[in-house]
Amino acid sequence: MEKRIKEKLEGYGQMHLMEYYDRLDEAGKEKLEKQLSAVDWRLLDLLNSHEESAGRGEIAPIEAVSTADIDAKRAVYTEAGLEAIRAGKVGAMLLAGGQGTRLGCTGPKGVFNIGIHRELYIFEQLFANTLEVVKQAKAWIPFFIMTSDKNHDETVSFLKEHDFFGYNPEYVWFFRQEMAPSADYDHKLLMEAPDHLALSPNGNGGWFSSFMNAGLLAKAKEMGIEWLNAFAVDNVLQKIADPCFIGAVLTENYVSGAKVVRKADPEERVGVLCLEDGKPSIIEYYEMTHEMNYAKGEDGNYLYSFGVILNYLFRLDRLEAIASQFMPVHVVEKKIPYIDPDGTAHKPESPNGYKFETLILDMVHMMDNCLAYEVVREHEFAPVKNKTGVDSVESARKLLAENGVEL
Ligand code: UTP
Repeated sequence: MEKRIKEKLEGYGQMHLMEYYDRLDEAGKEKLEKQLSAVDWRLLDLLNSHEESAGRGEIAPIEAVSTADIDAKRAVYTEAGLEAIRAGKVGAMLLAGGQGTRLGCTGPKGVFNIGIHRELYIFEQLFANTLEVVKQAKAWIPFFIMTSDKNHDETVSFLKEHDFFGYNPEYVWFFRQEMAPSADYDHKLLMEAPDHLALSPNGNGGWFSSFMNAGLLAKAKEMGIEWLNAFAVDNVLQKIADPCFIGAVLTENYVSGAKVVRKADPEERVGVLCLEDGKPSIIEYYEMTHEMNYAKGEDGNYLYSFGVILNYLFRLDRLEAIASQFMPVHVVEKKIPYIDPDGTAHKPESPNGYKFETLILDMVHMMDNCLAYEVVREHEFAPVKNKTGVDSVESARKLLAENGVEL
């Protein structure tokens, strides 16, 4: 083991990671060393300070273009969006590196069959939604898919097996996001196997740097892409490269846009788009005070009522400009499979430690402005997060059916 790594392990109280080292063969030793040398040890410092919040700037409500505003300009916006798509300026960015632990996924969430009487995979529904725009624009939309080491192979083979559900494979690119270590409640890094740290995808905020590292930013620029529409894999009513949304952001001269829905109730657990020190920012539901949740404007509407649905449009040159900026790392409690010192494998039923994630919502605050674009929740927001109850398979099926999708 390299001296430099050993010193780090000692310094950070992580010598338990050496437990199996002497018993590993050469390949195993090399694998573990490689992982250890890639660890960002500063993450462990975060655990010690994780009680302290970074603090927020001055928060103020943001104005949104309402559904009524949008309806009044729908034709103009839509044409502007279609024009940008036809000119090849818009790319779709599917963030599919997550692990779907709440749903109990073992592989990619996109391979989940949401159908009842027929097969309807989440990936299939997302491609079907994109194909509608392709038809309207009469142009293929470059489609980037972020996976992780945990689900890459399965994602690629599943989509190939299903002929990309009718999408043109020449317009689909995959790339993997980076992985981060996880720690138990005693701040000890967890191992998944004797030669392997318990690594997990580093959150959905890492997408742009992974996209760059994969050489795809250069490719996108070469193709003339100027805008990227990033969205989550698990909203089956997701409108992808929505021409009206794109057109609104372009026409109104914004550098980014976020689709928002009015909160179902003032205490709904959703990130809220607002202004922080005059710049767009998303406040997590647990950061909202009671006063903020219930504050009303002169028109009687709640002031902080625009919840984000993980559908953003970013101008590529602005993403590039912020690429080297520090992104906050969030420490989240999760269920993390691990092995104990005698090598027994465990698959916990409840959270047993911390993962480190950067979040796409923090990118919004790095933008000079962001158009809050209101959409109708019942038509555009059916996330599949949980097995049952809120944002579940059941609720998503109901919403799909209400929107005329045969199940
Ligand atoms: P979630 O925050 O719902 O996380 O992801 P998740 O991993 O899918 O599910 P849980 O929390 O384990 O149950 C929102 C979106 O961000 C993507 C997900 O694939 C989903 O599209 N994501 C999340 C990534 O691409 N990478 C990550 O590291 C985390």
